[in-house]
Amino acid sequence: MTETVPRIQTPFLVAEDELDRSLRPRRLEEFVGQDTLREQLTVAIEACSARGEALDHLLLAGPPGLGKTSLAQIVAAELDVPFVQTAGPALERKGDIAAFLTALEPRSVFFVDEIHRLPRTLEETFYPAMEDHRLPITVGQGAGARVVTLDLPPFTLIGATTRTGLLTTPLRDRFGIQARVEPYSVAELAVIVRRSAGILQIELEEDGAQAIAARSRGTPRVANRLLKRVRDFAEVRMEGVVTSEAAQAALEMLQVDDRGLDRLDRDILRTICVKFAGGPVGLSTLAVAVGEEQDTIEDVYEPYLLQEGLIKRTPRGRAATAAAFTHLGLDAPAGAGASLF
Ligand SMILES: Nc1ncnc2c1ncn2[C@@H]1O[C@H](COP(=O)(O)OP(=O)(O)OP(=O)(O)O)[C@@H](O)[C@H]1O
Ligand SMILES: [Mg+2]
Repeated sequence: MTETVPRIQTPFLVAEDELDRSLRPRRLEEFVGQDTLREQLTVAIEACSARGEALDHLLLAGPPGLGKTSLAQIVAAELDVPFVQTAGPALERKGDIAAFLTALEPRSVFFVDEIHRLPRTLEETFYPAMEDHRLPITVGQGAGARVVTLDLPPFTLIGATTRTGLLTTPLRDRFGIQARVEPYSVAELAVIVRRSAGILQIELEEDGAQAIAARSRGTPRVANRLLKRVRDFAEVRMEGVVTSEAAQAALEMLQVDDRGLDRLDRDILRTICVKFAGGPVGLSTLAVAVGEEQDTIEDVYEPYLLQEGLIKRTPRGRAATAAAFTHLGLDAPAGAGASLF
């Protein structure tokens, strides 16, 4: 029997552009966490600025909402150069890339979001452009066609991807700096929540910040979103101050549990644990069972469930861990999924 849970749009992971913009850190010193990467970028930026060169190409990989776009903008701000932005799916023809690259001012940052979605045939266009600022293009057609090589200004390509696995090795290898943004600790998220509360003029108590941070699934974007929702709750029900009680009551109302799991997270776990007896179950089957896109599960939900040790990847699909059964208040069966551990 399929357990039918009505699909609700999970409110915390959907982009809220305006909020993102107002809370986005502008400089490296405002950017919380990712210490190793920040250090690496600080040194690289200082060195290339001193030499008057463009920064090495930079690849930023990691789950949504961890600060890839923010970092790309910060790098441009720190270099004091223009920031030009596009996304993989928006580049359809070689001419699209040529139009961007030829218009760049020297040392600009050219940011390609979702670079894993760049059509394969266009990847090659980037190779000579990234390596030695050349862009060979074909002019004319048939027998009269010839290749003209355009000289490009030196520039920094910053690619962001939620899926490094989908990038071809030749493209990946052309990035001089390759970095992974990692989920944030609760302490770092609490700093982010306090900073955002300051910007939004929200009165926030320390344990309120902790309560929100602990349920933000390692993700600054989620932390900011929860903060806003908790503020609404605090204003309507508790005189406006975000205390730990206000945060807990609000999060309960929003069906975010004490580990930061929302409805869909729990649907995924319950489906694996109950419907597939602990798994393993293939990703596509799981996606159909919970009524969500496979990509969304893989990019957005799975990383946190893996990190929390609630699911495991096995060669035959995803399996629930004993911790998942415990979290849902279920007895771990002696069946397939549980025996994996
Ligand atoms: N290190 C950080 N310090 C403070 N705030 C942060 C940090 N990282 C992210 N944020 C906040 O989270 C929001 C989302 O970050 P950002 O848009 O940079 O993520 P992203 O990795 O580009 O996500 P996506 O993959 O969905 O494009 C930002 O607007 C900002 O408010
Ligand atoms: Mg982004």
